[in-house]
Amino acid sequence: MARGFRLIFATSLLLVLLESCEGSTIGVCYGRNADDLPTPDKVAKLVQLHNIKYLRIYDSNIQVLKAFANTGVELMIGIPNLDLLPFSQFQSNADTWIKNSILPYYPATKITYITVGAEVTESSNNVSALVVPAMQNVLTALRKAGLHKKIKVSTTHSLGVLSRSFPPSAGAFNSSFAFFLKPMLEFLAENQSPFMVDIYPYYAYRDSRSNVSLDYALFRSSSEVIDPNTGLLYTNMFDAQIDALYFALMALNFRTIKIMVTETGWPSKGSPKETGATPDNAQTYNANLIRHVINDTGTPAKPGEELDVYIFSLFNENRKPGLESERNWGLFYPDQTSIYNLDLTGKGAVDMTTEANVTSSNGTWCIASSTASEVDLQNALDWACGSGNVDCSAIQPSQPCYEPDNLVSHASFAFNSYYQQNGATDIACSFGGTGLKVNKNPSYDNCLYMTTGSNKTAASNVTEMASTSSSMHNGVSKWIFTSLLVAFLSLL
Ligand SMILES: *[C@@H]1O[C@H](CO)[C@@H](O)[C@H](O)[C@H]1NC(C)=O
Ligand SMILES: *[C@@H]1O[C@H](CO)[C@@H](O)[C@H](O)[C@H]1NC(C)=O
Ligand SMILES: *[C@@H]1O[C@H](CO)[C@@H](O)[C@H](O)[C@H]1NC(C)=O
Ligand SMILES: *[C@@H]1O[C@H](CO)[C@@H](O)[C@H](O)[C@H]1NC(C)=O
Ligand SMILES: *[C@@H]1O[C@H](CO)[C@@H](O)[C@H](O)[C@H]1NC(C)=O
Ligand SMILES: *[C@@H]1O[C@H](CO)[C@@H](O)[C@H](O)[C@H]1NC(C)=O
Ligand SMILES: *[C@@H]1O[C@H](CO)[C@@H](O)[C@H](O)[C@H]1NC(C)=O
Ligand SMILES: *[C@@H]1O[C@H](CO)[C@@H](O)[C@H](O)[C@H]1NC(C)=O
Repeated sequence: MARGFRLIFATSLLLVLLESCEGSTIGVCYGRNADDLPTPDKVAKLVQLHNIKYLRIYDSNIQVLKAFANTGVELMIGIPNLDLLPFSQFQSNADTWIKNSILPYYPATKITYITVGAEVTESSNNVSALVVPAMQNVLTALRKAGLHKKIKVSTTHSLGVLSRSFPPSAGAFNSSFAFFLKPMLEFLAENQSPFMVDIYPYYAYRDSRSNVSLDYALFRSSSEVIDPNTGLLYTNMFDAQIDALYFALMALNFRTIKIMVTETGWPSKGSPKETGATPDNAQTYNANLIRHVINDTGTPAKPGEELDVYIFSLFNENRKPGLESERNWGLFYPDQTSIYNLDLTGKGAVDMTTEANVTSSNGTWCIASSTASEVDLQNALDWACGSGNVDCSAIQPSQPCYEPDNLVSHASFAFNSYYQQNGATDIACSFGGTGLKVNKNPSYDNCLYMTTGSNKTAASNVTEMASTSSSMHNGVSKWIFTSLLVAFLSLL
């Protein structure tokens, strides 16, 4: 290979790696309307263990802000509706809040968004009129502190802000809200802040089961809904709702405002009438959502558009009023165990699809043979994590799949990732004869343990493994980056 060509090759690979740091992101909402949740310190560990990099909270609780210091997790914090009056009335109130609630913790705690009020159009007391003045005052306070470019100011909405959402091209804002929406949209456009919306196909399905199919709500529809005005095809309700918003914004000539989904999800349990609220459906919705979002698919009206999404919610919250489902939106029980498996990175080792018959692997896995020589295994592992493009961050020290710490287990993890990502063909499990196809799921969580011949070490105490260095994710991506860099520099 000519030197110049290698350089270009190495450079473009680095660019690809850098680019992959941007793109659509998945976060999680950390609601705390419960009396049995773990302390914020423990939650910070759980969040890191599960590779959650973006977290939304609903206030500016000091314990939470402190717990996430130096974790690298980006926080969206909030000003509750009940506090909007003082924020809207006097600049000095906003100044004081920034001084007391943000400056002491920033930048050790990475705060990137402030939501000023939440779903105000759903609020019974008329707080809508307070939102924009409060947003202005918060922005001014940030500007005084020199943080207005680092922390974005916005507010969240329910889909009830639209008077029409179907077909998507007919999406329109309810004119009753124009008095505050118009100045708000101007504020967002001027400050390049996103339009934040909470989107719940679950409710659309639950409340209109005759018209909305479960498959359409869960992103697994084979039939398409066609927008007669645009001819665009919709295979899921999530996209249709987002596009209704894009069209509503375009109708008012706000073409530059981006949409951010500040809540979406599916409950794992509900009242007897809420038959759609099951762990299987919740897992399917969220897993498909992540897969859909993470590769920058965009929507039919905005293909390829990046979309940042927060899943509601981290925990089941036992003090939320309303139907049974309201208390069961969590990914985790208060004891920090998972309610169902979910790979939040969207590219985990094991396919999380619920129906066994739609897994690409046909129910097979690829593990490392325990009879292979150590040298062969190590070479194959290095290859999988290098040229094979497998994300091996999970098997680095202090990461969730590091234990059991032995070559066979680490190689199994890498082999299976490669196998699943590459069509699950026999060849994708060869690894110079060190790979072994099995048809019994050898995974715990998203990791693999060895099954053949050797001493089985099923790591059950996942929570304990969370005792990690606070900068683990940075550390790991640096590790991958560096090892690839070294690999490519050595080519030159
Ligand atoms: C809310 O306040 C705005 C502005 O003061 C007003 O125009 C609107 O009619 C009020 N809405 C309700 C339901 O009171
Ligand atoms: C628009 O909002 C008003 C005030 O909340 C509500 O009464 C009305 O039903 C809404 N209109 C539509 C078409 O949703
Ligand atoms: C279903 O759609 C029809 C026609 O659009 C409408 O008349 C009906 O009210 C809808 N049913 C429900 C439960 O939303
Ligand atoms: C991204 O997702 C879309 C729709 O889910 C799928 O058709 C496409 O193949 C995916 N692309 C990649 C690169 O995974
Ligand atoms: C595959 O899944 C579909 C729908 O989930 C189901 O109807 C079908 O019976 C399954 N096929 C097999 C062979 O399990
Ligand atoms: C899965 O198994 C079925 C039946 O054995 C076969 O027809 C199909 O080609 C397999 N699919 C893959 C991706 O291997
Ligand atoms: C398996 O591991 C356990 C615990 O580490 C150890 O006590 C036992 O001797 C091992 N068994 C074999 C066959 O290596
Ligand atoms: C898991 O780790 C915790 C914290 O060290 C400990 O209290 C607990 O007993 C362990 N559980 C198991 C099953 O080992």
